[in-house]
Amino acid sequence: MENNKICKLLGIKYPIFQGAMAWIANGNLAGHVSRDGGLGIIAGGGMPVEILRQEIRKVKEITSNPFGVNLMLMMEDVEKQIDVCIEEKVPVVTTGAGNPGPYMEKLKNAGIKVIPVVASVALAKRMEKIGADAVIAEGMEGGGHIGTITTMSLLPQVAEAVSIPVIGAGGIASGKQFLAALSLGAEGVQVGTKFLVAEECTIHENYKKAILKAKDRSTVSTGNYTGHPVRVIENKFAKQILEMEKVGAPKEEIEKMGVGKLRLAVVDGDTDNGSVMAGQVAAMVNTPMTTKEILESFMRELEEEKAKLIARIDSWK
Ligand SMILES: Cc1cc2nc3c(=O)[nH]c(=O)nc-3n(C[C@H](O)[C@H](O)[C@H](O)COP(=O)(O)O)c2cc1C
Repeated sequence: MENNKICKLLGIKYPIFQGAMAWIANGNLAGHVSRDGGLGIIAGGGMPVEILRQEIRKVKEITSNPFGVNLMLMMEDVEKQIDVCIEEKVPVVTTGAGNPGPYMEKLKNAGIKVIPVVASVALAKRMEKIGADAVIAEGMEGGGHIGTITTMSLLPQVAEAVSIPVIGAGGIASGKQFLAALSLGAEGVQVGTKFLVAEECTIHENYKKAILKAKDRSTVSTGNYTGHPVRVIENKFAKQILEMEKVGAPKEEIEKMGVGKLRLAVVDGDTDNGSVMAGQVAAMVNTPMTTKEILESFMRELEEEKAKLIARIDSWK
């Protein structure tokens, strides 16, 4: 893939990112994804600075390949986290929840590639203007915090609007969806939900089971009402939040309900009362695989699906 713009820009083998996942995407998962040719990304959002440093060093123990750190810019300590990324010579930073503008020069001067996550055309354009190396266009099918536009609609619009490379995210768990993202203008993809059940992903078994048994309509988007939508598996916790939204409970009360709930599911395995963040493609994630198998199956299926699609379209003539 050496002529792929993302592979060239970052020095990676496959144009596949393992998306940051708070409490989940640690140095072990990111390190194995990077070792196997993708871009592993540590979820730095809210992580204490010294833990972040440890997780970065963990990646370096596993591989010398490029990797990334995701920073949530509205979190406390983000400046200290940036200093750690610079000191530890992190090659790539992806950003969310805020404007990377104030930090752009510092990051770029340190040789770090900056790739913001965007959920709108306007934001993608703004990110290009302030010097982003690429953008991740994330649709609302994806797991975790989401925007309001589907990948199918957002990705081609972002790809048209900017000239930096675009990575498609949200709803990609197979070679078919990888191919679709490329045809919508993406140069690479970011995958979250499928990596939740990777053997190298150290979350509680109950969380993995919830993903493996999910069906097409198992996820819901909560928090639409507070302006911070989050896609989760529908469980007791999600139903409580949706009910509070329905009766118009104060936003602060709803926000407060969510505090600590992802950790409850990820670490303690309480998949009834915890927040089991996952994308709509959870229904397509039926077999645990290693990070290597996930990446290689994406690339293999991409070629197979491309051939099948060309043959199908040609057969219409
Ligand atoms: C459990 C979970 C936690 C997530 N946490 C973060 C995060 O901390 N930062 C971030 O930028 N994206 C986060 N995401 C989004 C992913 O990085 C990725 O873009 C998304 O999962 C892609 O869609 P998919 O789930 O359909 O593969 C999270 C997703 C999941 C499923």
